[in-house]
Amino acid sequence: MAARKDARIKVTKDGPYIVTGNVPLIKEAAIRGKDGVPYEWRKLHEYEERGTYSLCRCGRSGDAPYCDGTHTKIGFDGTETADMKLYKERSKLIEGPTVDLVDTTDLCVGAQFCHRAGGVWKLVAHSDEGNKRDLAIEISGNCPAGRLETCEKGSGEKVEPPFEMSISVTEDPGRKASGPLWVKGGIPIESAEGIMYEPRNRVTLCRCGRSFKMPYCDGTHLRTGFKDGDKHI
Ligand code: FES
Repeated sequence: MAARKDARIKVTKDGPYIVTGNVPLIKEAAIRGKDGVPYEWRKLHEYEERGTYSLCRCGRSGDAPYCDGTHTKIGFDGTETADMKLYKERSKLIEGPTVDLVDTTDLCVGAQFCHRAGGVWKLVAHSDEGNKRDLAIEISGNCPAGRLETCEKGSGEKVEPPFEMSISVTEDPGRKASGPLWVKGGIPIESAEGIMYEPRNRVTLCRCGRSFKMPYCDGTHLRTGFKDGDKHI
């Protein structure tokens, strides 16, 4: 099933994300190498197809990743506090010989793909050597939050993974934690107030209920050791 063109995610006030438009939902895990650094995402499960569904935002649902109404019982405060400034205004450009890196540090969710092969920053700086350019592009594309983006030297054109619209419920077994919702393919996200967030190919939405940058993930799930208790897989 492919998502419909009018697919959308609606953040509800102190409640779940309402997803419409046949958006595929899968579970993916970050796979780490012997050095403890993640190198790939692996699909663990495809959830049943649903045209519309509600995803838990409070982190306490007994039917994760779906909402079961627990947010109303616990008085969940899901106030949206994300920085609404454009990413361009918040990011730094790091130049390399064949590819540049756009780094928006405040989007980091601690996924750690960027630590691979000595760090993506070093790879970009030496992107005219061997396979370092390709590796820098691959590593940046694995950053679920889109903190890191590579751009063609000169033209500034983004080199993005060609994602279809979908949502991945993430797991980080190496850190013994369940991770955010990885929203791919530029699905429009609307705040509870009806304001549209800046569209991007990759973003991560909080599903532990503890982020300080709602609705986006800020890595707090790692500090709290969030586990979703998903019984669907
Ligand atoms: S999932 Fe809530 S902070 Fe990452």
